[in-house]
Amino acid sequence: MVSGRQALAASWYDFPQYYDMAFRDETRREADFIEAACRKYCPFPVRRLLEPACGTGRLIVELASRGYEMSGFDLRGEPLRYLRHKLVRRGLRAELFQADMADFRPPQPVDAAHNTWNSFRYLLSEQAARRHLQRVAQSLRPGGIYILGFHLLPLDADEECTERWTARHAGTRVAYTLRVLATDRRRRRERLRISLLVRRGTDQLRLRDEFQFRMYTASQFRRLLRQVPELELCDVYDFWYDIDQPLELNDEISDTLFILRRKGRD
Ligand SMILES: C[S@@+](CC[C@H](N)C(=O)[O-])C[C@H]1O[C@@H](n2cnc3c(N)ncnc32)[C@H](O)[C@@H]1O
Repeated sequence: MVSGRQALAASWYDFPQYYDMAFRDETRREADFIEAACRKYCPFPVRRLLEPACGTGRLIVELASRGYEMSGFDLRGEPLRYLRHKLVRRGLRAELFQADMADFRPPQPVDAAHNTWNSFRYLLSEQAARRHLQRVAQSLRPGGIYILGFHLLPLDADEECTERWTARHAGTRVAYTLRVLATDRRRRRERLRISLLVRRGTDQLRLRDEFQFRMYTASQFRRLLRQVPELELCDVYDFWYDIDQPLELNDEISDTLFILRRKGRD
């Protein structure tokens, strides 16, 4: 570990051990929700799942350990390498491949797919987002669902936003700061910076990464969905993951989980 006060400008995805810790606390609740949504919305028992943009695969590991046949892919090799080691250590299996969300071909049709925590918003154009949804629809069995989670921008949202949280694992403590640096509603681009302060004993490492997300209001996402008629919107939820409390899709909801279903019958 490097020590010092100067932040290293690097992709946080090249430090998968720290990025893996960032969302770890939510993993069980999310996996519970994915299982509950599959039971509620799929007309068949779900066995095979796909995670686009799986990163270090915390959900792949959790769901594989619950007995599901998992597959997943990511644009980057580093998180996938980390995930392969994790699977071997835990004696689990998953089919992994490196691909772009906007242009992928899954090895075989799946019963359901899931993609949470804003990864979808890395697709910066309408065309890439549409192609992603089309590819997912082609990957699903008719009746299969896609659980897609990302942050919608309410019309009256405060655009200056900073989120801070910490995570601890095996003697390492990581403090995360996620800051919105700029928003451009016309181009629908949000620029963000994630800063990590990693502490282990007396060592410390600072990392800083900047990236862009595409912005969506509820009606912009509805418009995109209309371009992918193979998928129907069943319901929406928020990050409380309460399967008994579907919400209304409107301009007040922010952290949103969409349940999209591939139309047709097997
Ligand atoms: C916030 S992480 C989420 C990882 C995982 N879904 C989770 O919940 O732990 C976002 C991931 O999206 C991946 N990603 C970004 N753009 C992508 C693209 N165009 N195609 C596939 N993966 C992409 C990044 O490499 C990163 O691993």
